[in-house]
Amino acid sequence: MDVYEAAGSRMSVRSYKHDPVSKETVIRILEAARRAPSWANKQCWRFIVVDSQVEKKIIGKASGQANIAKACEEAPYIIVLCANSKESGVKNGMEYFMFDCGLAMENLVLTAQSEGLSTCIVGWFDEKAVKAVLKIPEDFKVVAFTPLGYGNEKLIIRSRKKQDETVYCNIWGRGLE
Ligand SMILES: Cc1cc2nc3c(=O)[nH]c(=O)nc-3n(C[C@H](O)[C@H](O)[C@H](O)COP(=O)(O)O)c2cc1C
Repeated sequence: MDVYEAAGSRMSVRSYKHDPVSKETVIRILEAARRAPSWANKQCWRFIVVDSQVEKKIIGKASGQANIAKACEEAPYIIVLCANSKESGVKNGMEYFMFDCGLAMENLVLTAQSEGLSTCIVGWFDEKAVKAVLKIPEDFKVVAFTPLGYGNEKLIIRSRKKQDETVYCNIWGRGLE
């Protein structure tokens, strides 16, 4: 599967099979995530691979979302993405650690897709609860997490704004011909 195919077919999956995924595959995906570009190559990110049923259950519950809680119990792994904002930069009032993490997470979800695996980025959760269960140090934030496993849903490609609403040529608002 090439990168266009992975980007075009990826969807957020909230129901998973219990089928195992090899550690080698998870490591390959995390290697791709780790290769993402970042502010001054500072690589503010840390990834926690969670495969313990007890911890997965607590993290899923911390989302406060029933479908995500179920997904976290079903999928063999949750990948938790943490970052230290001091290992990135701030420019024009924007904190780039979030951008760095977004790039790493996108590499993760696209390579997972190309391995035939599914993901669902989760950004809505009780951070305190996740930090406590995984013993994450004070100076790190939990940016997002995703279940990782074989999906158990029909393919739904969710709509996007039209290209002429989001892509301009030379000046703001002028469409690409
Ligand atoms: C930063 C971020 C946070 C998200 N948080 C959640 C979440 O807490 N719960 C959830 O069900 N989906 C979450 N999503 C998934 C989005 O809802 C989903 O990507 C969007 O609806 C588009 O659907 P698609 O991924 O299937 O194309 C999140 C996605 C991103 C990028």
